[in-house]
Amino acid sequence: MRPLFIVLEGPDAAGKSTQLELLAAELSRRGIDVVTTREPGGTDLGRALRGILLDPRRRIEPLAELFLLLADRRQHVEELIKPALAEGKWVISSRYTLSSLAYQGYGRGIPMETVRRLNEIATGGLSPDYTFLLDVPPEVALERAGETDRFEAEGLAFRARVREAYLQLIKSVPNGYVIDATRPPEEVCRRILAHLPLA
Ligand code: TYD
Repeated sequence: MRPLFIVLEGPDAAGKSTQLELLAAELSRRGIDVVTTREPGGTDLGRALRGILLDPRRRIEPLAELFLLLADRRQHVEELIKPALAEGKWVISSRYTLSSLAYQGYGRGIPMETVRRLNEIATGGLSPDYTFLLDVPPEVALERAGETDRFEAEGLAFRARVREAYLQLIKSVPNGYVIDATRPPEEVCRRILAHLPLA
């Protein structure tokens, strides 16, 4: 079977990193070679960019923010995702192009067509085989969140906008599914697995 590129999306504190680990463990148990990664920060360059992007003391203009995220994404695709898939490994990434549409498009107000076009350039057209939106109400996300980075400092209204955006956007994503992430982690993982073409 061809290796799959799987993306987990959703707001901060939806449990993406927990699911990344649970899914990877479950797939490894089935003998699948898996690489887990995230945006921003999946590569060495990405980690440097992540530091800049999340620093709450920085003022970053919306389009500048998008370009930094796209630089991270480009490097991620070329240095990590494509080579891993070429070696036959499955790749699970926490966040990808949908994050930019939800946060920089709907959230920050950059025209959607601009974000789409730039995403396309940054990824060279590489789309996920499966996208899972881990959905939680903004209040739950806010409660779960620990420390405050530059994105987490945004208020409830911004979070609500991002959630609505995700719920709209996922409808037009091939093999895109909404998963209720208020459920216990093991159940969330089972629901994700149920959508994957596993023997
Ligand atoms: P992430 O590490 O996934 O945070 P969390 O684990 O809290 O979900 O992502 C860091 C922040 O980057 C997150 O608040 C959302 C933001 N982000 C965007 O705004 N646009 C993007 O395209 C990406 C990839 C992330």
